[in-house]
Amino acid sequence: MIDQSYKYEKFMFYMGKGSKYMGIVISVINNKGGVAKTTSVLLLAELLAYLDQKVLVVDLDGQSNVSLALHAYVEEAESSIMGRTVPNQENIFEVFVDRLRGRKEIMSRVIYPTNIKGISILPSNKRFGRIESCLMDCYKGPFILSKALRAIKEDFNFILIDNAPALDFFTMNSIAASDYIITPVREDGFSKKGLKEILDVINDIKEEHDLDHVKFLGTFLTQVDPRTNIFKERIHDYERSIPDLLFKTYIRKDTKITQMESKFIPMLSHSLESNALLDYCHLLLEMNILCEPEDYKLRKSIGEAK
Ligand SMILES: Nc1ncnc2c1ncn2[C@@H]1O[C@H](COP(=O)(O)OP(=O)(O)OP(=O)(O)O)[C@@H](O)[C@H]1O
Ligand SMILES: [Mg+2]
Repeated sequence: MIDQSYKYEKFMFYMGKGSKYMGIVISVINNKGGVAKTTSVLLLAELLAYLDQKVLVVDLDGQSNVSLALHAYVEEAESSIMGRTVPNQENIFEVFVDRLRGRKEIMSRVIYPTNIKGISILPSNKRFGRIESCLMDCYKGPFILSKALRAIKEDFNFILIDNAPALDFFTMNSIAASDYIITPVREDGFSKKGLKEILDVINDIKEEHDLDHVKFLGTFLTQVDPRTNIFKERIHDYERSIPDLLFKTYIRKDTKITQMESKFIPMLSHSLESNALLDYCHLLLEMNILCEPEDYKLRKSIGEAK
């Protein structure tokens, strides 16, 4: 069973602003590629925006897939990547390298509205992919992102962080900035050893820096074909061996996801008839981070409440 005792501790009741959630940070992490981290960030962000929440998506991946999907990717000239000319776009690069962190007025320069109402983005682009060498001279602490987000937390209800397939310096920053962490895994590539590696890194950071509030909510299978015998055998095995870590919800394979991502259009406007979208609704409910009105609205939308 997933421990949900934290649920109400995180909610800050904002008198006058009508919002119950303040800057709840959720990191989507797995060092394996192609497990649906970006897809999960996109769909959870859309669902939270549908529930009238203000959402910030943070792109912590030099591949910039979530920035592309949300139409916030800006190409850079090679000269600006090498730092010789002014960049075309200020973004997550500035947060880490130019030490914009912690200053609200400057942070607002790197956050952009998107084509989806309620969703903003702190994007990345090619410059971020080249950041490692630039960081050699900087302080390499795990709290750069956490400090930066603290300055703007009150402007958002939820902050979703899309991570690169790595367990590196940036992932550690993501972990340290988080309230909650979720880990998507591909049904066919799931290894308990891989999951243990991720949990060890999370626990090391928590212990080393006294981050008791950071909570691993669980892992969920993605791109699943539930009709196959191999799936039935595997799910049975996982349910037996890691019951505390596995969400009951799994995300079914759905071609509408690929269509949505290849056309860079939001899922909720693209297709309400998507199995995967329905599964993400169930996942969000199972994460148990919503207060009653939003929980009810979502259940009602999927026909689970009157
Ligand atoms: N439920 C699904 N059904 C079908 N295709 C899916 C589903 N979820 C994700 N995909 C597809 O799988 C591919 C990988 O997904 P995604 O880019 O979200 O993974 P990722 O973990 O972010 O990858 P990376 O580690 O490279 O950042 C994409 O082409 C995406 O469209
Ligand atoms: Mg990705």
